[in-house]
Amino acid sequence: MDQDVILIVDDTPANLSVLFDTLETAGFRVLVNTNGESALETVKEARPEIILLDIMMPGIDGFETCRILQASPESKDIPVIFMTALTDTVDEVRGLALGAVDYITKPIRVETVLARVNLHLSLRKLQKELEEKNRQLKAEIAENEHLQSQLRQVHKMKAIGTMTGGIAHEFNNILGIILGNTDIAMDDVPEWNPARFNLEEIRTACFRAKNVIRQLMYLCQKTELMPKPINIIPIVKGSMELLQAAIPSSVSIRLNLPEAADRIYGNPSQLHQVMVNLYNNAVQAMEEKGGVLEVSVENCYIGEDRRVDKCSGCIEPDAGEHVCLSVSDSGQGIAPDILERIFEPYFTTRRIGEGSGLGLAIVYGIIRNHGAGIRISSEPGKGSCFRLYFPVVHKKEDDSGENTKF
Ligand SMILES: Nc1ncnc2c1ncn2[C@@H]1O[C@H](COP(=O)(O)OP(=O)(O)OP(=O)(O)O)[C@@H](O)[C@H]1O
Ligand SMILES: [Mg+2]
Repeated sequence: MDQDVILIVDDTPANLSVLFDTLETAGFRVLVNTNGESALETVKEARPEIILLDIMMPGIDGFETCRILQASPESKDIPVIFMTALTDTVDEVRGLALGAVDYITKPIRVETVLARVNLHLSLRKLQKELEEKNRQLKAEIAENEHLQSQLRQVHKMKAIGTMTGGIAHEFNNILGIILGNTDIAMDDVPEWNPARFNLEEIRTACFRAKNVIRQLMYLCQKTELMPKPINIIPIVKGSMELLQAAIPSSVSIRLNLPEAADRIYGNPSQLHQVMVNLYNNAVQAMEEKGGVLEVSVENCYIGEDRRVDKCSGCIEPDAGEHVCLSVSDSGQGIAPDILERIFEPYFTTRRIGEGSGLGLAIVYGIIRNHGAGIRISSEPGKGSCFRLYFPVVHKKEDDSGENTKF
């Protein structure tokens, strides 16, 4: 076991030898100094658990030594016990006022010294334990606050999702009526009639509106999801090939795809949509200066430890085996106050007409529907990385072809 270190500072040889013998016999590691200056050096190097400090010494006296110790954050918590030859209460009071925890009067009685040293050592240990508990508690509180803010975000997204879903559903029905009637009218209106052109315009607008509604339904998880065990690599490759032509030459692409990855439950067209949204954001973030778009897939294991993410909209993956798909850019990065809101539908920092703010809300809806997780790391000015964690399909489920998770 580690010995507790005790520093004795005294210029009287007789005193020193009694104290040294007593404390060493009691099992302590004892260091000795005969003046304040060298004691301050020893404290810096050896960090004793307790200091027995004489008051009357040549050079800086005990009071001044104590004052210097108290002034430094490294030594202010080390208990100082004054040893005073004077039965003068003024000295005792002054010593305690300077931050000493106790005092012993000379001539020294070994029993008293041992009792006081042991008492203050236990107090110091208790204090250290308390500080550690306090630190843990603070960390727990911070984690709790973070989880609560994540929970609030989930509720908010759910409420928005429910409302959007309701509206989208109603509009879909109404659009169905408009489209149906337009089709009937088109059958009755001959091609030479100018009204035919207007009907065609209505029809085209209806399809556009249906497209928007389909997106809204993705966002509020109202689409029929039929995930099956899939390999994500061909989907990543496919989406990359499709997008390559649209990526400006100032952006270089790095693909880190393994030969094989575990299978996950997924809906290919929805995952394609996720990737398109992430690529678009990454490319837009590098619009001004160019940079590197890096897409990686790897198998990974998430332990029981929960990560405290700065982004309250992130979804912490469950513990277990996952396939991680990450999309990172070396673009402008995301400031913390924006990070808080990026998954909110219609939240955008882009100029009017340049972004709807639905991209990540759709990603969020799809990821949640896949039982997957999202983590983000981003540094303003350096870039961002979106990591998606898909739970892997277990061998048994894969063989039986059952999609038990959905
Ligand atoms: N990779 C990224 N780097 C920097 N900022 C990002 C990144 N991804 C998202 N953002 C920020 O998050 C906001 C929301 O993104 P989201 O994809 O939801 O909407 P949008 O890109 O603004 O519009 P839309 O995708 O609908 O065209 C963006 O406006 C942008 O501020
Ligand atoms: Mg976007």
